[in-house]
Amino acid sequence: MNRNSGDGARGARPFPPGFLWGASTSAYQVEGAVHDDGRGPSIWDTFSHTPGKVHHDDTGDIASDSYHRYEEDLELLSELGVGAYRFSVAWSRVQATGRGPFNQRGLDYYRALVDGLRTRGIVPVLTAFHWDLPQALEDEGGWPNRDTAYRFAEYAAALAHALGDEVGMWITLNEPQQAAHQGYRTGTHAPGKTDLSLAAAATHHLLLAHGLAVDAIRAELSGHVPVGITIDLHPVRAVDEDAASAAVALDAEQNRMFLEPVLHGSYPDAARAELLPAQRLVEPDDMALISTPLDFLGLNYYCPYYVRTGDWNDLRQGESPLPGHPGVVNYVPPEIPRTSMGWLIEPDGLYDALRTLDREAPRLPLYITENGCAADDYVDPEGHVNDTERVDYLEGHLDAAWRAIDDGVNLAGYFVWSLMDNFEWARGYQRRFGLYFVDFGTQRRLPKKSAAFYSVVARSNALPSPSVNGAGALAYAALATDGSESNSSSPRSSAVRKASTTTGSN
Ligand code: FCB
Repeated sequence: MNRNSGDGARGARPFPPGFLWGASTSAYQVEGAVHDDGRGPSIWDTFSHTPGKVHHDDTGDIASDSYHRYEEDLELLSELGVGAYRFSVAWSRVQATGRGPFNQRGLDYYRALVDGLRTRGIVPVLTAFHWDLPQALEDEGGWPNRDTAYRFAEYAAALAHALGDEVGMWITLNEPQQAAHQGYRTGTHAPGKTDLSLAAAATHHLLLAHGLAVDAIRAELSGHVPVGITIDLHPVRAVDEDAASAAVALDAEQNRMFLEPVLHGSYPDAARAELLPAQRLVEPDDMALISTPLDFLGLNYYCPYYVRTGDWNDLRQGESPLPGHPGVVNYVPPEIPRTSMGWLIEPDGLYDALRTLDREAPRLPLYITENGCAADDYVDPEGHVNDTERVDYLEGHLDAAWRAIDDGVNLAGYFVWSLMDNFEWARGYQRRFGLYFVDFGTQRRLPKKSAAFYSVVARSNALPSPSVNGAGALAYAALATDGSESNSSSPRSSAVRKASTTTGSN
């Protein structure tokens, strides 16, 4: 690939043939319809209905109403020209209490969704668990209870049995780190527990659930269908030497706690003992199961973390104590721009995360399964959502992805978070990540400028030169809707083939 055009300015940056372009959502964040067709309650129903847990006490009861509007949402995907859609299944929609009989009406919904995707030439990429554990299983102990892992494997097998002929890629878990850490350690997500030993047990049982599910899915499927997991990585930067060992520990606790077991079958030594699963929880075959070779690895990347030495009793601007590491603080460098989530915007963090994965799992196909930007979007008087911040964010991160590929990383696809605005967990509807603006009162979907930008990228399988990016919303809208960028060798058609022929490489 050609990093620079002759005059030193960036030219168009082509991605490899067959690169898979997609968009992501998750069930609780978009579906709504929480009482329809036999769905049982999940921990997120309970959590969001507990006063004070979610911004403005917003709930996912209606969300983006995608359960009722999935056909309209399939049209959005077609309009974008993406080759894949990453969605998640609400466990309690297909098995109300997480054990016992499966709910055919719930399975029928996902069957209709995957049928609709296939009809449109879009590869269905299914995540089996994106945080919405059936409440009945939480009542029996949740992830800290080993039995939940076996329940998950049974559920994953049922999904593979019901949908396996059409799903193109299987993701067992989404960001298990956040499910354990925010769910059981800090309590900022459902089920809202704050207990180090529960979080450590949840860590091990999420990993065990993943390993069991990989086997269960493969046992159900004839022929080879890629199975993987999605892990979130945050590169940790130490600003000064004295914070270096805390940075190594934070990296172990936030990144390697899931990465190392999955890839290497062991927990990271540098993590604090109280965060690691107790030895009595780890049964003889567990680590071998957890490290069953995968077909691909999914990476969610949003931002890096910075740490430096600091006085917990005299915090400076941008500092907060780094729990477990007295004398060291989390630090938000004021010179680095942030999204409206307050997350640092640093595309090099994505580049570094990809290089790390490439080192840890040489040649294993990698997919960026989430990357995106919250912004204070609004519809202007002309009816446009001119989200230049998101276009800039995507441009910067896609450039980082392109550079990583150029440097030899085996990156096979990119999924933007998110297709549309949705219920952003503890931030409720206050934070918008979508390419499509959702007016939650009417459920009207409206393409933002970023949708038009992303459509150009997906259809041309290339990142346009920065001068094109400056062309403005209307130029993008024209490119995105007149179809002139689409051709028979578009990424959509090649990606479909690719996804169905991806084979394991580790
Ligand atoms: C990720 C989650 C996803 C979304 C984005 C913003 O951690 O996986 O559901 O909320 O953050």
